[in-house]
Amino acid sequence: MEIKEKKEISPNDRWAVDEFNGMPYRPLGDSGLRVANVGIGTWKFGYPEKGDGARVDEKTAHRIFDRAIEVGATFWDTANRYNNASGNSERVIGTWMRLNPDQRRNVILATKIFAPMDGISPNHGRLSRLNIIESVHACIERLQVDYIDLLYFHLFDSTTPAEESLSAIEDLVKEDAIRYFAISNFTVDQIKLYQSLESHFSIRVRVLAVQNKFDIISLEDDQKPGVLHYCAQSGVSFVAWSPLLKGLLTDKYQDLTGVGPGDRLYDEGTLNSALERYDLPRIKKLADLSKEWGISLNQLVIAYMLSRPGMGPIIASVSSVDQLESNAYGGRITFSKEEILKIEEILTEK
Ligand SMILES: NC(=O)c1ccc[n+]([C@@H]2O[C@H](COP(=O)([O-])OP(=O)(O)OC[C@H]3O[C@@H](n4cnc5c(N)ncnc54)[C@H](OP(=O)(O)O)[C@@H]3O)[C@@H](O)[C@H]2O)c1
Repeated sequence: MEIKEKKEISPNDRWAVDEFNGMPYRPLGDSGLRVANVGIGTWKFGYPEKGDGARVDEKTAHRIFDRAIEVGATFWDTANRYNNASGNSERVIGTWMRLNPDQRRNVILATKIFAPMDGISPNHGRLSRLNIIESVHACIERLQVDYIDLLYFHLFDSTTPAEESLSAIEDLVKEDAIRYFAISNFTVDQIKLYQSLESHFSIRVRVLAVQNKFDIISLEDDQKPGVLHYCAQSGVSFVAWSPLLKGLLTDKYQDLTGVGPGDRLYDEGTLNSALERYDLPRIKKLADLSKEWGISLNQLVIAYMLSRPGMGPIIASVSSVDQLESNAYGGRITFSKEEILKIEEILTEK
């Protein structure tokens, strides 16, 4: 196992180095954009005191963002709808951005649009030109930035011609409201449909990433099989959502006696169903292996995922600075071939 150490880089060499504050970076898709191996999923950031369903308040979120810069976890994932369509995940990032304008270029901000936010008419959601342009400008306002680095379509829209949606993206790139484009919760055929239209537009509407469900225990969404393999073959980054199975793939659920209020699966009322549904003995074997190697289960999971062909940055949600630091460390680990084989033996054994 190798751990990437933070090193001094001379100013003359900086342009050629794929790291920031000790965190290795990787290309996003087949593009020049580089993103941190480990970023932050901010789904649960918001204003819990206002009852928006968030778990992480603004003060804690800001502490996490400050530390994220120091450890190089600079790929931040949000969506307009997070926390009951409140926009509050974006707002919390926005208040930090306003206080830290000098950090703007150190962060790659990714957000998503699709569903209604500010109204319920048939035109307040989906991927019409009208909703895309309205939604993106509203995201920019909440995020308190001039542009979005990476815009995702949160879902596929079978009711709008794909050309209409993609031409809106091209226009948003031209007006510098967004810089790069990606999609989420798409099947292989839906990705291929978008790619087949790329040549109708400038290179800027290329799909750089697909964000779909994936973790090493429950794998991809049964309804969207083969996307990771397809991404690896076609120069698109796969960004896994819920990569830690909402916390089940961390050491905290190895001793259930300590689990209770304050832990996500417990708080969300899904602990028992998760314990019934997922392969706990397999998870325990992975946890034992991580202990043998002197790392934590989340770090083993993150470092292993990063070794998989096609895998993009890891965007686990965090609820504290400690969790962020632990996950970020996982982004600096490279396993040997033998270590990867050991993990795969556990993952594939019957
Ligand atoms: N595109 C989509 O449709 C979609 C859907 C879902 C999620 N997402 C994105 O994916 C991100 C991640 O997914 P997720 O939030 O569902 O789940 P996740 O990343 O699998 O799990 C995150 C949870 O694990 C726990 N955790 C994280 N790091 C830990 C550590 N080092 N030690 C112990 N516990 C740790 C925290 O729970 P506690 O609060 O209990 O500590 C945290 O809330 C989201 O934030 C969002 O950006 C996208």
